[in-house]
Amino acid sequence: MNKKKAVGNAIGKIILIGEHSVVYGEPALAIPFSGVHMETIITSSDTETMLDCFEYSGLLYAAPENYFGLTSLIKKVVEDLNKDLINFDITINSSIPVERGMGSSAAVAAATVRALYNYFDEDLDDETLSNYVNFSEKIVHGNPSGIDTAIVVYEKPLYYIKNKTLEHNDFDLDAYLLVADTGELGMTKFAVSKVRELYDSNDEAKQRVAQLGVLVNNVREYLNKGDTKCLALAMNEAQTHLDYLGVSNDTIDHLVSTAQDNGALAAKLTGGGLGGCVIVLCASKADAEKVASELKAKGAKQTWTMNMKKGDHHAR
Ligand code: PMV
Repeated sequence: MNKKKAVGNAIGKIILIGEHSVVYGEPALAIPFSGVHMETIITSSDTETMLDCFEYSGLLYAAPENYFGLTSLIKKVVEDLNKDLINFDITINSSIPVERGMGSSAAVAAATVRALYNYFDEDLDDETLSNYVNFSEKIVHGNPSGIDTAIVVYEKPLYYIKNKTLEHNDFDLDAYLLVADTGELGMTKFAVSKVRELYDSNDEAKQRVAQLGVLVNNVREYLNKGDTKCLALAMNEAQTHLDYLGVSNDTIDHLVSTAQDNGALAAKLTGGGLGGCVIVLCASKADAEKVASELKAKGAKQTWTMNMKKGDHHAR
């Protein structure tokens, strides 16, 4: 008998500016990042549901605790669709490195919900998908701002304010964005709680968060005007605020200064920080290639380059 098969896909994301401050109601700007990708494949089987995902391969119900966000989501979707959690296997293929600020947890949730809906021949609207991705993000991250969910669902550059604003914010810049992986696992949950502690006890931290919000609104205008120079100044300033808030570390600082010493216009961490990725703004493709090779020589594990020109925001 032919096996039934269904697929769901999702791409990664990059926060251009506004990470952490977004948690406090400030705006953020994020871009879908097609250089990395998540695919969930569901195939019919005659046995109990198996999960083959990242480092785990085995029975779904026996998956380790760190898969709880995903396994709880699968159970919930299947139950909500009035189906039985049996007779299909789930395989997840990913090129999104985990815990690097690229939205891997939101992407695995989105790809899997899309695959389950396809498998059961159900129509899936954006609101339902957002609710499911948020459900698993809450398990994984505690109290997420929802920006990762918004990006994986809509796959468009977004201007985002928690529980308030979600606007498509396209841009057309004569510049390249380089993404460099520190190779270190970011610690989003820990980083968010570290910032919270500082924020609650320190007025300077509150001011820095507010200044990040102002920078995001300025960057929105720079993007609309195609002003790469002002964007670069704002990104560099954002990095100093994030450093003050305690979410940079020596590895990030080292890659940021290496980029700046080698002709980059700007460099900052992206996402939760304390590891993860650094983003670097470069004036040309040649500059981006030069900076990429310097960053790799100084320890970056991988790099991707994205053209910031309109209609060409795909990364390689
Ligand atoms: O590390 P990531 O990609 O999950 O990004 C986290 C972004 C934060 O602003 C630090 C947290 C949040 O919930 O928005």
